[in-house]
Amino acid sequence: MIEPLRFERETGTLYLLDQTLLPNEETYVAITSLDQLVEAIKLLRVRGAPLLGLAGAYGLYFAVLESEKSSDFWGDLKVKVDYLVNARPTAVNLKKEVDSIMVDLPVTAEPYEIGVMVYEKIVQIENRLKQDDLSLSINGADLLTGKKNILTICNTGTLATGGIGTALGVIKVKNGRKDLNMAYLCETRPLFQGSRLSAWELVKEHVPHMIITDNTATYLMSLGKVDAVIVGADRVALNGDTANKVGTLMLAVAAQHYGIEFYVAAPTSSFDLNCPSGSDIQIEQRSPIEVLEFRGQRIAPSESQALNYAFDVTPASLITGYITEQGVLRAPFMEVK
Ligand code: MRU
Repeated sequence: MIEPLRFERETGTLYLLDQTLLPNEETYVAITSLDQLVEAIKLLRVRGAPLLGLAGAYGLYFAVLESEKSSDFWGDLKVKVDYLVNARPTAVNLKKEVDSIMVDLPVTAEPYEIGVMVYEKIVQIENRLKQDDLSLSINGADLLTGKKNILTICNTGTLATGGIGTALGVIKVKNGRKDLNMAYLCETRPLFQGSRLSAWELVKEHVPHMIITDNTATYLMSLGKVDAVIVGADRVALNGDTANKVGTLMLAVAAQHYGIEFYVAAPTSSFDLNCPSGSDIQIEQRSPIEVLEFRGQRIAPSESQALNYAFDVTPASLITGYITEQGVLRAPFMEVK
């Protein structure tokens, strides 16, 4: 069983499967402070929108313990929460899960009681994520019955959610039903979440897959080898515009050209109904080094610079539907809770 994180309550230690080292090394890093967790989030040791929400909830737990030492518990906690939720700006889940816990905490309670309450909420979030994944993966597999060749990008599996996954969860359920011929995985430059992480998961679960370079995707569609595209989401806006791993937009444009259905698979916890449209989503830009170097080796001229957007925004007009735990939705979303 893949366990992207586990918490040892007796020692207050969060163990993160270091996703930067996969697939070559399966190493857990021990996290015992908010600073360590924020660093791990920024470095992508832990990643994927729903799992960032869960990791954020653990971050809040560390923040509460650390703020207990302050004479101004609530003031100090709010500063720490701000620091935590801004570690990565695009995935709504990080801020949303942390805010959803914060809003219910009684200001009259003692800090140690707050710690207990936060922990109880974390357990609830963990269970909900798993349940949502399963429901949405079944919904997606039902919807896409007979579509046996699926193209996807990035990693949207257990490593990204803690559950069966979202887009990758649909692929896994289809495979379990013998309704999958091939999962085509975009390698997902620059950090290779497709070829390192999704492929690692699918090897473990014996799911047939083929890694392709990102620029092969359109040609594959032109050959008639793709029946549907399914991707995850970092933030779905009220009008349906969706931020996801950079390269998603390119897939959606190509899919429309070739008349291929293009689905976003995401729990409704990745929907941000306070965000009117894609142009209101903050897109994370990461270090150019991720593009200019590979494993510490320079691969571009030393004089060259690089632009490294981590995500892009796909307009709702290119999205056939949204596979969620509540069913298959169409934008805009007036009824999502
Ligand atoms: O930069 P990452 O690896 O955190 O990006 C992840 C993605 O873009 C995923 O598609 C998204 O978070 C959905 S995960 C179920």
